Amino acid sequence: MCGIVGYIGKRQAFPIVLEGLKRLEYRGYDSAGIALYDGSDILLSKTKGKVSALEDKANNEMSLKGNLAIGHTRWATHGVPNDVNSHPHYSNSGDLVIIHNGIIENYASIKEELIKRGYTFQSDTDTEVLINLIEDVKKKEKVKLGKAVQIALNQVVGAYAIAVFDKNKPNEIVVAKLGSPLAIGVGEDEFFIASDASPFLEYTKKAIYLEDEEMAVVRLNKKIKIRKIKNDELAETYIQELKINLEQIVKGGYDHFMLKEIYEQPTAIKDTYRGRLLVKEGIIRMAGIDDHLEKFLNANRVIIVACGTSWHAGLVAEYIFENLARIPVEVEYASEFRYRNPVITSKDVVIAISQSGETADTLAAIKLAKQNGAFVFGVCNVVGSTIARETHAGAYTHAGPEIGVASTKAFTTQITVLTLIALKLAKESGAMSKSDFQYHLQELELIPGKVEKALESDKHILEVAKKYKDSKNCLYLGRGYNFPVALEGALKLKEISYIHAEGYPAAEMKHGPIALIDEQMPVFVIATKKGHYEKVVSNVQEIKARSGKIIGIVTQGDKDVKAIADHIIEVPETLECLTPLLTTIPLQLLSYHIAVLLNKNVDQPRNLAKSVTVE
Ligand code: M6R
Repeated sequence: MCGIVGYIGKRQAFPIVLEGLKRLEYRGYDSAGIALYDGSDILLSKTKGKVSALEDKANNEMSLKGNLAIGHTRWATHGVPNDVNSHPHYSNSGDLVIIHNGIIENYASIKEELIKRGYTFQSDTDTEVLINLIEDVKKKEKVKLGKAVQIALNQVVGAYAIAVFDKNKPNEIVVAKLGSPLAIGVGEDEFFIASDASPFLEYTKKAIYLEDEEMAVVRLNKKIKIRKIKNDELAETYIQELKINLEQIVKGGYDHFMLKEIYEQPTAIKDTYRGRLLVKEGIIRMAGIDDHLEKFLNANRVIIVACGTSWHAGLVAEYIFENLARIPVEVEYASEFRYRNPVITSKDVVIAISQSGETADTLAAIKLAKQNGAFVFGVCNVVGSTIARETHAGAYTHAGPEIGVASTKAFTTQITVLTLIALKLAKESGAMSKSDFQYHLQELELIPGKVEKALESDKHILEVAKKYKDSKNCLYLGRGYNFPVALEGALKLKEISYIHAEGYPAAEMKHGPIALIDEQMPVFVIATKKGHYEKVVSNVQEIKARSGKIIGIVTQGDKDVKAIADHIIEVPETLECLTPLLTTIPLQLLSYHIAVLLNKNVDQPRNLAKSVTVE
């Protein structure tokens, strides 16, 4: 999983590609490189490290003038992150150059063949194999670059979004896609290539999203024609008008994207239910559900597949669906589901949840479910993403771009969409009375204001963070709807501060984890008024008796937990099923502050990337 950017046109290409790479660093940031055509030759600069390191290196070692360039920011799959394995990669002749996001699975056998034919390799990457295969085909078949790319891609197994150019034909870039995203920005006498639209938003709002197994020769002064890689058939060239703003993807005055995104949650939740939650009319309108209502109402069960934070949102949904709509739900890690030969029938509805819409495991789970006849519904944030396209129907979360690697607003907007679906099904199936339904609508509408209120505790949370920032381990406990919130709280802390943390159902503690409790162990307990409150208070007592440090996430005005806990953080009162939308806020802020206090890279934690498009 990597970010790719390309430019061809009248402007200087280097700054456009460099800036584009910075915006795509959420896709990977262990090395970066740019290949620029300066009017007579290809100049190449690449380095281990971030795009800022590339900027310094390129400034020192090459001229930055030229109107054609391609660049790459990498998350290593084949070959360790170092200068040599960084993209772009040359072909042996030095005429062709490529950037690639994805994996060529059969690269080893192709490499062997090419070595027999006299090719040599500098790097350990599958990508260098691909560019030499393209060169080999081009020479052997005496075809143009576009054709050579097409023939070569028909020989490879794997996933790719690629951009290739030939220094002898510097008026075109050849692009192709299978499994990894690729957008083409269409300007006036200029084109942009990128993994998503963010690198070209200030230049053009017109974009073409390639489908899987499609390719195009992007040539100056020519209309783009898209072809099927398999059989050369022409495909539809659909130019979309993008509605997204650049301001939506820059930090907007916050120190980190993560903090900005935490603070965006009131708006993001409102945007997610806008036009769907119609309180006055007493209805929930969701085209994706309305059009397939029978599928949901007649389903034997709902299977939710997702990864990471999206999986946690799925777990919250399990409680909501079963409790409100009385529909049986199973929640599966997509990575397990795809390989465990699950029993799926045409009476199952599968809900796939993914912020990015590109997660490889979730995509594979969707494909498996479809093959077995299930109806597959997607809950995605990124419009036009692969999962959004691969599912039979779906609902977007409308959270806006989430750049911080640690998911925050995606989680709360996923819960919002899933709550809307559960409520709608509860009403349509008769599982919920009209008055109860109406009450839930009113309460859901109040959530953005209550999230704002929860955010007001930020300063107090910073003080709590200062106390626990040096902890080596932390426990997170919750029950019912808030058990998944405990898991999510622990994941947030782990991924950005590198402190070991575990989430548990509060009552499970006595079956093992209680042995860990001593005066060194902070325990974050979600103990809101509704939902097993007394039981959780007993769990808190058990921790206290063993000298654990207790930080309670409680309902405003709470007395019982306050009397025992070392610290409390209050959230407003709401319906039990809506509490995860509030209790998750202080846990996000806590993780954020601890990571900042520890001087960690909050938006780009080590070893991670925003969308995991590899297995
Ligand atoms: O884009 P997706 O929602 O499919 O991503 C799933 C996980 O990779 C993601 O939630 C990951 O766990 C985040 N880093 C969590 O903050």
